[in-house]
Amino acid sequence: MGMNSTDLQSNQSNNSALKQLASVIMLRCVECASRYPGVSAQPRYRCDCGGVLDIEAKIHYPAQQEPALQVGFEALTASESDVRPLAGLQWRQLFDERSTKPPIWSLNIDKKLPDKSGVWRYREMILPIPEQYIVSRPEGNTGLYPVGRENCGNHRDGHRQIGSYAGLDHLFLKHEGENPTGSFKDRGMTVGVTMANLLRARAVACASTGNTSASLASYAAQLGLPCIVFLPATNVAGGKLAQSLAYGATTIQIEGDFDDAMRLVEQVCNELGIYLLNSLNPFRIEGQKAIGFELLQQLDWEAPDWLVLPAGNLGNTSAIGKAFRQAHRLGLIAHMPRIAAIQASGANPFFRSFMSGFSRREHVQAQTIATAIKIGDPVSYSRARQAIEESNGIVEEVTDEEILAAKSVIDRSGIGCEPASAATLAGAHKLGERGIINCEERVVGILTGNLLKDSQTGIPQDKQDNAITANIKAVKKAIANKISL
Ligand code: F0G
Repeated sequence: MGMNSTDLQSNQSNNSALKQLASVIMLRCVECASRYPGVSAQPRYRCDCGGVLDIEAKIHYPAQQEPALQVGFEALTASESDVRPLAGLQWRQLFDERSTKPPIWSLNIDKKLPDKSGVWRYREMILPIPEQYIVSRPEGNTGLYPVGRENCGNHRDGHRQIGSYAGLDHLFLKHEGENPTGSFKDRGMTVGVTMANLLRARAVACASTGNTSASLASYAAQLGLPCIVFLPATNVAGGKLAQSLAYGATTIQIEGDFDDAMRLVEQVCNELGIYLLNSLNPFRIEGQKAIGFELLQQLDWEAPDWLVLPAGNLGNTSAIGKAFRQAHRLGLIAHMPRIAAIQASGANPFFRSFMSGFSRREHVQAQTIATAIKIGDPVSYSRARQAIEESNGIVEEVTDEEILAAKSVIDRSGIGCEPASAATLAGAHKLGERGIINCEERVVGILTGNLLKDSQTGIPQDKQDNAITANIKAVKKAIANKISL
């Protein structure tokens, strides 16, 4: 069948977008520094040495700005020269202006969306491609809750309980569970599925503990693209599985754990030419960097002292570390926050490696109630190691009991999160107690997933009770039994 002229035109613009992208990005092996083209007909997820790949991009200030400034910015990216303070200011103004523009949905949705997305607002730092290819809900713009003993503000005693629990005066929680599908994965997925769109992938796939799959299923459905998700049987929280099914993904349950599913999906994608959208795919990491940019912007570009987050497959640790490095180099912030990656003690290979001074890469048979981070052989180990080392960061472990205790504090405050996310508060609490985080330091913790993702684990189910008769006497009696007014 021949191509009609519209097909031909769209093919041409597609090819030119790919060419343009290929001229500004490269893939670089995190292990051996080998370089590969950033875009190729056969997508590449690993170096020939087996190492994972990172995207190296030339960051350009938007072309419509004054040519003089443009030169300054290019010089900056090349040499990180002394134009830095000015450059930082210009970037900050650009991002601030984009986030204050009101969305005008009725005019041209494709034109207005990128500025409103908490990912594409930072597009020069994420993926420089024409707006027409972007697949966005939009995502991001998640809340940053001040919950420290000091910074909490009035009428927020419930939230202050979190700061008291952590023992920290200046604590913020950034709730990535407020993304469109309820987890931080949407930030990487908007970029990953945009790449699938640009590359004209015929199908996409991932292995997942539940959130990545829900996110991929949603973005693939928006594009009308077949989606296959590989899940470890019996280890995915109900809300997450329900999402993947509802969004129309083909689910394949593996008799095994996440690490088995991950190995298989990589192989099947390479053999069947399916586009792989785990965080092994470096474009996912580029999108997740936006968590870092957005929280810095919400703090008016005053970098915190610490960033605390749960760590499983280590994509997020890598992404936020990279965002902070780039923000620092471009002069957006004056110093690098220290990163504290928190693992469940039953799924702690990164913690073990950290304890050995990263002299060995560890693997474990993972076991934790926080199923999202039940991962024994994290794919992004080397990228995350770099993030910890260059931020003078730390890796800590917390037990399931500590995770559940922290979760109940977050839930009771009215903010709520899924179990893996609570590792953040459990970790902050532990690092505060150990005197590693000083109580006066400014700390941002990431909550990675929404409370409703897992409606079973750590929820006081015993507080539900039997229905009562529908009359006022029974109602008053039921209240008196529960609380004294
Ligand atoms: N928190 C939640 C809620 C997650 O779903 C994940 C990872 C993490 C933390 C850890 O982030 O892997 O970047 O270190 N979930 C993946 C998934 C593995 O398949 O949804 P990470």
